[in-house]
Amino acid sequence: DAAGITDPARRAETDALLAADSELPAIIHALDGGYIRPAPGGDLLRNPEILPTGRNIYGFDPFRMPGAFAMDDGARQADRLLARHMADCGRLPETVAMLLWGSDNLKSEGGPIAQALCLVGARPRRDSYGRLAGAELVPLAELGRPRIDVIVTLSGIFRDLLPLQTKLLAEALLLAARADEPETENFVARHARAHLAAHGGTIETAALRVFSNADGTYGANVNQLVDSGTWQTEDELGDAFLRRKGFAYGTDGRPTRCDAVLGGVLKTVDLAYQNLESLDLGITTVDHYFDGLGGISRAVRAARGSEAAVYIGDQTTGAGTVRSLSEQVSLETRTRTLNPKYFEAMLAHGAEGVRHLEAAVTNTLGWSATTGQVDPWIYREIGSVFMLDPEMRRRLAELNPVASVRIANRLLEAHERHYWSPDEAMLDALRRAGAELEDRLEGLDMEQAA
Ligand code: BEZ
Ligand code: MG
Repeated sequence: DAAGITDPARRAETDALLAADSELPAIIHALDGGYIRPAPGGDLLRNPEILPTGRNIYGFDPFRMPGAFAMDDGARQADRLLARHMADCGRLPETVAMLLWGSDNLKSEGGPIAQALCLVGARPRRDSYGRLAGAELVPLAELGRPRIDVIVTLSGIFRDLLPLQTKLLAEALLLAARADEPETENFVARHARAHLAAHGGTIETAALRVFSNADGTYGANVNQLVDSGTWQTEDELGDAFLRRKGFAYGTDGRPTRCDAVLGGVLKTVDLAYQNLESLDLGITTVDHYFDGLGGISRAVRAARGSEAAVYIGDQTTGAGTVRSLSEQVSLETRTRTLNPKYFEAMLAHGAEGVRHLEAAVTNTLGWSATTGQVDPWIYREIGSVFMLDPEMRRRLAELNPVASVRIANRLLEAHERHYWSPDEAMLDALRRAGAELEDRLEGLDMEQAA
């Protein structure tokens, strides 16, 4: 069990398994036509039995997801989210925009899927063998609060791996939309009825809430735009998200485009939400979080004309914690990017370590661009630790001059886009750092050309 990892002997065993190169030999063995033993997939902290890696992983039984524990826990996490929104805004949200990843659900037997179902007040329906057969509604009396409308954005990986769960979610929302219940107790029905009154059509269309990419495509491209810096207004980022992730998946599991429904639901979104399932990664470590959660937040803002709240459900710490986006970015910046224990360990990895630091700065800019909810001190502190100190600047430049220039330029870009306002001394230092690093790069190019 996961607790065993605190046992010193078990820990030493785990360290040895982590240090061993088991993947390349396994690939070679597979290419030789050899047998690769099966092993469970998942998160190391949840299940140390996944080691050694380099085996043939089996993830889950698709007919058992979400499992019973995931449903119990999903109800608790949904309550936590609603309580936090209640504390911040004084009322229940009418609509939650929730991002679902495949990997997160594989690691938790469908924890985030269960949360989405619980917000709506639905659960899996099982056949006489206990296999997943569809959705059913939890009666309002049992639910004890209104059904929350949920617009789900699936990652391309989720859509590929979990077709049964894609249909399960679509069916849960359709059942809620059709239910003969008062609108004050059922926000899905309220919004579906409003759509029918305004646009006509069928309830099946009005109840479309599960969105993803078109077949065979992945991601929202918001991360590509932010990485390249080739965007003018923040609304372009929300538009990119909608173009890519605006394909509705109904109970038949087939994607269709239905922009009237999507646009209508986005107007009702009060908060955008995603779980964080692993300590391996944070929302500023990789660009996929702001690509999806940031992208939809920006689209909601354009649709509503005002900012939506953005929350992260941190599932990495026991019972789970809900943080605002700004709290989460601040926490990660203090504990990772600005923490000498973290960045020195990164720099010990050389060029790749500097690239990771640069990625954190770019991803932070991605959150500013999509949500506007990043505290300006973050840019100031990153600037002073990594760019103002000449010794640190020299170390970064020697390890990875390309990434170092990008850090200086990204901080300047964040200033130009009004995400923070450096004082004159800082601005001057950043410009000089950028120029000095660019010179160094040119010098390297010339050396290479010679
Ligand atoms: C997923 O598992 O769905 C996923 C993983 C990494 C990035 C984006 C999505
Ligand atoms: Mg990428």
